[in-house]
Amino acid sequence: MPKVWEVYSKAIEEGKNHNVLSQDIRVLIAKVQGYAEPIDTLYNRDDEFRNLPLFQTYFERLKKEEPVEYIINEATFLERKLFVDRRVLIPRFETEQLVSQITERITKYYDPRNYLVVADIGTGSGCISLALRSFFRNWLITASDVSEDALEVAKQNFQTYGGGIRTLVGRSLEPYIANKMNLDIIVSNPPYILNKDEVQVSVKDYEPDTALYLDKANSVYEDIFRDCKKVKKGSLLMCFEIGYDLKEYLTELMAKYLENYEYEFVEDLDGRLRFLFVYLQ
Ligand SMILES: C[S@@+](CC[C@H](N)C(=O)[O-])C[C@H]1O[C@@H](n2cnc3c(N)ncnc32)[C@H](O)[C@@H]1O
Repeated sequence: MPKVWEVYSKAIEEGKNHNVLSQDIRVLIAKVQGYAEPIDTLYNRDDEFRNLPLFQTYFERLKKEEPVEYIINEATFLERKLFVDRRVLIPRFETEQLVSQITERITKYYDPRNYLVVADIGTGSGCISLALRSFFRNWLITASDVSEDALEVAKQNFQTYGGGIRTLVGRSLEPYIANKMNLDIIVSNPPYILNKDEVQVSVKDYEPDTALYLDKANSVYEDIFRDCKKVKKGSLLMCFEIGYDLKEYLTELMAKYLENYEYEFVEDLDGRLRFLFVYLQ
């Protein structure tokens, strides 16, 4: 049986021609070897390799630029391991920042200890709802998605972490309106990519189109701005992840549909405009 370091070094060499990252190889080895963390691949370099055929199957997929998260059916979001497969977007670091921005800004608008009614529109893996629930135990969170397949994945993750998040299938605010819900907060990371040419192979070929591309004729942002009056009783805070190139488009949409609102575009850690907070009195 080969040692871990032999398999790792050979894969790094072979992966050079296929855009393979060494960190992704460590993720695969940790999965196959049953290590808790990818870094354990390096600490346990002299271990015997247990299941080379399984590693080889995974590695062939990695060489075809399949995201490592889909290969091992696992992604990490704010320290929490979530089940993912090709029915959902792989949670991103920017979305972790959206959650941080919400936690930092929330006291400006509400007492977060209250039982606030929250909608997570386009929940995908359920990552945002789960993170918000862990910070704000009293919030009544409903997660929705237009894709029933995606919602199945979210439900699985909600169950793993103790339930307590309601789910609804449907487009934008429609299921909330149908259920006559009054919302205090809407959170959404909807599809927002305008330029398909900027998208890497690992995203374009593997992640669901319905999670990626903004179709201005079917825009979640527009749906929400147009219909938010129907779910608003008191004040309403809307928190969005946005594409860096959407400032003008979103400013025009807000002016078209909203009254008595304040808003703030917020930068991510790379200094790009990636979040929008809108508050309606
Ligand atoms: C960019 S992904 C975000 C997934 C997850 N919230 C996250 O942050 O990783 C967008 C999600 O919105 C869903 N979606 C697309 N159009 C929608 C619509 N009109 N109404 C509700 N969900 C929608 C997609 O199915 C997808 O799961």
